Amino acid sequence: MALISVKRLPKQQIRVMFDRAKQMEKEGRNIIHLEIGRPDFDTPEHIVEAAVEALRAGKHHYCPNAGIPELRQAVSQRYAEEYQLNYDPATEVLITNGVAEGVFLAINALLDPGDQVLIPDPRWVNYEPDALINFVEPISYSLYEDNGYQPDPDEIAEKLTPRSRMLILASPSNPTGGVISPEIMEKIAALAVQKDLIVVSDEIYEKIIYPPAQHTCAGVLEGLHERTIILNGFSKYYSMTGWRLGFTLAPQKLLEPMLRYHQYMITSTNTFAQWGAVKALTSDQSPSIAMRDEFQKRRDFVYKAVNRIPGFCCTRPAGAFYLFPSVQQTGLSGIQMATLLLEKAGVATVAGEYFGYKGAGHIRISYANSLDNLKMAVEKIEEVMTDLSLE
Ligand SMILES: Cc1ncc(COP(=O)(O)O)c(C=O)c1O
Repeated sequence: MALISVKRLPKQQIRVMFDRAKQMEKEGRNIIHLEIGRPDFDTPEHIVEAAVEALRAGKHHYCPNAGIPELRQAVSQRYAEEYQLNYDPATEVLITNGVAEGVFLAINALLDPGDQVLIPDPRWVNYEPDALINFVEPISYSLYEDNGYQPDPDEIAEKLTPRSRMLILASPSNPTGGVISPEIMEKIAALAVQKDLIVVSDEIYEKIIYPPAQHTCAGVLEGLHERTIILNGFSKYYSMTGWRLGFTLAPQKLLEPMLRYHQYMITSTNTFAQWGAVKALTSDQSPSIAMRDEFQKRRDFVYKAVNRIPGFCCTRPAGAFYLFPSVQQTGLSGIQMATLLLEKAGVATVAGEYFGYKGAGHIRISYANSLDNLKMAVEKIEEVMTDLSLE
């Protein structure tokens, strides 16, 4: 995509598909929603209770710009316990309006127009527009499907120029479900150190990962701590998408410009919601573990079932809750396939083209929906594909 003005940024296509599916529902169609990336579970009750209690206890007011100290402390403690990483809760943790804000801040507060940011392809839909908004040039590096959607560190090295300032990593990945292997993470870390890059590691699906795959937190890799911004949040693992809460961990020199941008744009995130997030981090994790287990069952089902549909094929996702099948053998583009499935099967998916050049000829299926709905969706897709082959 060429550098363009904010006024001409395209609409976010996942939302376009969602709105279209919702409109069809209003018109009386039954739609199975596999387009939107949000867990179909409600937020666990004890988290909701904590936020309600906070409201009743008068937590109605502005909080510090970076977030309530208790939440920053809980975030810092989790990283200390889990990864032995030290982030000062007073200066190195920022509570954001979702990871979406964290990505935006990292690119916009730390880069200047004309700088380059390396982004994966396929990728989550915000990275590229977030760069273009600030006239930062996004440079894509490929994720290779035949290798479980791993990046190639040599290719990343080849794409670097004197204007390259930042590298975005996303593992587990949306839309592919790929998890970057520890060996490749180490090679990328060495490259980032050698070329003096800021690393932004979007780890929102950190805990939605299926054994034997393992998560590698970028902050633990040699030489990365001082140059890395870790982005994580509550939307997925705690099913808190509507609460709009994420967090950023980074050394003070990187976090401070982000905090300043955040002060003018957001002021601070919702105070009582943050009390719910404190509860999420510091209490019983079993509801989230149960959700993860359920996603794994669905992954196993949908991966096998979709691979059986003529013309569809995909690698087994190791994390997140997306399947990213190629539909190239059907002769249709991802856009044509997603449109066909919505109109003829009543199954909403998202065309792979919207996730980057490498997404062409794919569709993204979010399996954050019940097993019954997933079974029904696969049957409906099979019917449409059979009709298509008979035409
Ligand atoms: C890879 C990735 N990063 C960030 C986000 C944004 O999440 P949040 O709800 O925390 O803004 C999403 C949401 O789908 C995502 O898939």
